[in-house]
Amino acid sequence: MKLCMIGTGYVGLVSGVCFADLGNDVICVDKNIDKINNLSNGKIPIYEPGLSELVIKNFKNKKLKFSTNLKKSVKESDIIFICVGTPTKKDGSSADLSQIFNVSKEISSSINKFKIIVTKSTVPVTTGDQIEKIFLKKNNRKNFAIISNPEFLREGEAIRDFIYPDRIVVGSNDKRSSRILKNLYSPLISKGASYLHTSRRAAELIKYASNSFLATKITFINEMANLCEKIGVNIEDISIGMGLDKRIGSRFLRAGPAYGGSCFPKDTKAITSTADKFKTNLSVVKSVIKSNENRSTLLLNRVYEILNKKIKNKTITFLGVTFKANTDDMRDSSSLKMIPALSKKGAKIKYFDPTGYKKEFSKIKNVFNSLSIKDSLQGSDLVIIHTEWNDFKSINFKSLYKGKKFIIYDMRNIYSPKKIKEQGFRYYSIG
Ligand SMILES: NC(=O)c1ccc[n+]([C@@H]2O[C@H](COP(=O)([O-])OP(=O)(O)OC[C@H]3O[C@@H](n4cnc5c(N)ncnc54)[C@H](O)[C@@H]3O)[C@@H](O)[C@H]2O)c1
Repeated sequence: MKLCMIGTGYVGLVSGVCFADLGNDVICVDKNIDKINNLSNGKIPIYEPGLSELVIKNFKNKKLKFSTNLKKSVKESDIIFICVGTPTKKDGSSADLSQIFNVSKEISSSINKFKIIVTKSTVPVTTGDQIEKIFLKKNNRKNFAIISNPEFLREGEAIRDFIYPDRIVVGSNDKRSSRILKNLYSPLISKGASYLHTSRRAAELIKYASNSFLATKITFINEMANLCEKIGVNIEDISIGMGLDKRIGSRFLRAGPAYGGSCFPKDTKAITSTADKFKTNLSVVKSVIKSNENRSTLLLNRVYEILNKKIKNKTITFLGVTFKANTDDMRDSSSLKMIPALSKKGAKIKYFDPTGYKKEFSKIKNVFNSLSIKDSLQGSDLVIIHTEWNDFKSINFKSLYKGKKFIIYDMRNIYSPKKIKEQGFRYYSIG
């Protein structure tokens, strides 16, 4: 099939290249000229394991193209996937849908034959209805169908998640388009993915309900960790003990820093705002948001305690600054709150992240990017393991310190407290 992905970010690029690899002809469109030029020259704008090889392979065999020309790309395609961003509005209240509506207007004026318009971006329930109204201003109802097909891939495991998804959700009120979409996904369905057909509104809501539930699970275990710290119980035992119950499951049940990333923070806010609009109080999700927002302050207070409230002139190392491993995505990472707060109190911050330098810290005083784990640890008073990259899972700290020993605060509970303490380090973990 001829597909067009509008928005070549994490979702548009990954799903575009995977569709191309399944034999479709795909054009990935973006308004960012540099991004499109770089992609056409084999330079991948994001860090995602396996992505680069797949893009280069499919670009070379001409199944994947890149373009900044939205109108032409739409005209040449049968199915148009909207994959632009839906960030939180500047006032923090709800989802900013301006990118969605802008591209909808552009697409709607480029319809030359029947097109299926699929919203892959995460959009609040009833957005599909609004997109349909935009299309109806310029087009006959017979010439298009608006479908919701939310994306569930996780950064860091995006390609695997796309090819082997737990489920594919298609929300459509149009039978013909549903059949075409099911056919498009048939190679994944035949490998075992569940296919769920729902109304368009239900599909939109499934995505928000799923993300809110996962955010709730993380927040729940983080709060349990707070209790564990007070009563001398190991949170890892609680996670394992709970996770073995099949009704609960062990995933998203590991205590750590506040959840971050491009999805959970914005999607939890967006769903409460939608519910408020429909006069329904999602009190559980509201509590989750509040608890998560407080978490970085709580962990910062723990850092202050560990350093006996003497932060000025201390050197603090961050191992990992992204919100999770295997991605370069800094959106809503808890390091964005913690590092500026520690810098403000007079600490010198050194950070090492496998995905390199982060422009987000360029204007923060006394924050330095280290080029290796070893370099980041030199002269450090406190080492914070912030992200669970494999690179940090078996560091021989003993061989890497010179002079004074640093304290270790393991925010991912990667190390065995006993073994690290035996090496003579003061070691703190979560829960
Ligand atoms: N990142 C994830 O892990 C993930 C997972 C599932 C769902 N989602 C959802 O998918 C959507 C996209 O997320 P993302 O992380 O890929 O975003 P992103 O910011 O990485 O990419 C969005 C892209 O859209 C482009 N764009 C914006 N307006 C455009 C226009 N008018 N014409 C052409 N291109 C335009 C931007 O330049 C950008 O490259 C969001 O709604 C998000 O919630 C994201």
